[in-house]
Amino acid sequence: MHKSSVLPYSRDRENDKGRDEVQVTVIGTGYVGLVTAIGLAENGHEVICVDLNAERMEQLTKGIPPITEQGIEEALQANAARMTFTTVYPESDLYLVAVGTPERADGSCDLTAVEAVVAQISRLNPEANVVLKSTVPPGTTERLQQSYPELRFAMVPEFLREGTALADNRAPSRLVIGTRDHMLAERLETLFLTTAPVVQVDPTTAELTKYAANSFLAVKISFINEIARLADAVGADVAEVAHGIGLDPRIGPAFLRAGAGYGGSCFPKDIAALTALAKTYETPLHVIEGADKTNEAQLDYVLQKIRPVKGQRIALLGLAFKPGTDDLRDAPALRLAERLEALGVHITGYDPAAKTLLDQKPTLDEAIAEADAAVIMTEWDEMKQLEPERLQRLMRTPRLIDGRNCWAYADRPHGVEYEGIGRYNQTFTNNQIR
Ligand code: UGA
Repeated sequence: MHKSSVLPYSRDRENDKGRDEVQVTVIGTGYVGLVTAIGLAENGHEVICVDLNAERMEQLTKGIPPITEQGIEEALQANAARMTFTTVYPESDLYLVAVGTPERADGSCDLTAVEAVVAQISRLNPEANVVLKSTVPPGTTERLQQSYPELRFAMVPEFLREGTALADNRAPSRLVIGTRDHMLAERLETLFLTTAPVVQVDPTTAELTKYAANSFLAVKISFINEIARLADAVGADVAEVAHGIGLDPRIGPAFLRAGAGYGGSCFPKDIAALTALAKTYETPLHVIEGADKTNEAQLDYVLQKIRPVKGQRIALLGLAFKPGTDDLRDAPALRLAERLEALGVHITGYDPAAKTLLDQKPTLDEAIAEADAAVIMTEWDEMKQLEPERLQRLMRTPRLIDGRNCWAYADRPHGVEYEGIGRYNQTFTNNQIR
């Protein structure tokens, strides 16, 4: 290993002398790379994290995480002895690639970073084991294998959720290992050290498994959002419908929360990449494309409920794409803000974590002051616990549109003009059930 070119180790590793665990290099310290690296260090392995962002590496060396993630600071400190952060690739036997695969203008997946990393690895060690953690379109790993026949590839997709990534990493629902190399598969099983079921498949199947998982979850959300609209129309409660169907183990209760639709760095991007890829194979994905269309339409539906009038002041409560994160990528709140701004509405925003370019207020009370309507777009606890009295006292008109069906006061007398998504019994002030 070219230790001379590596930044100093983040912490003293004396205590770990004599361990026989593996040394792994993780490339990319975004949320997948960093959480995976921490997990490997927790399993006792020595992990070298590489990222071209020197400032980020310096911060990480000091134990400061670049992402907001529950428990990450403590985990970095606890595993500091086994983690090194550097901008220079070490020569290694095992590399995990977790660099970004952003969306191109046509929806397809940009593999520039992955390809550059693999080229660099092959220069350092032409016979290295290369494990792709980045989400890549089906066929990518096999193609790389053909270009670099001496490298040994595996594709191990990531199923972590932002906000609960460390916990997900410690207790995964499954470990999917996509490789044609049985020795590498066995090695990876030991490396990730999990009691979860292991699914050993070829790389293309692993790649498709990742996209299929995210697409299925997105379909589930869009499905319940359509049912929510119908619930509004016929006079039914979508939350009860979700409960009623979710008890069937074939359906399951998760991801049936109706609301303003999904966002984030994964569902929209992965659906775009998969549908773009499917088109090249002339295999249209009608159901998945439908989920995407429904997700767009769901924002129009929320807009319809707001009934915005030019010159009005509307407060968006929650801007991050979901609670527990400051991530704004494809956040429904920002997409709604664009639509509202185009209608000449003045928007005030509030979020406990995310920072935007909107007229964002430091407190929720300041955001709703003199507003004509408030819209919950992220179900932070603060939004759930927003007392009706504050809405009445501070707003010009106490109107609340609950884009996440989360308001704790919705089903009690509250004296606020309240409307959820697909919850007939909450369209009436004081919850008068017909
Ligand atoms: C998602 C997947 O859940 C992870 O398994 C996957 O690893 C990750 O993408 C990824 O590909 O990296 P994440 O984007 O962190 O994780 O967020 P989710 O918790 O899945 O939520 C996504 C969106 O769906 C949020 O905007 C959330 O508000 C919305 N959602 C979720 C609903 O509208 N209703 C629900 O019932 C659940």
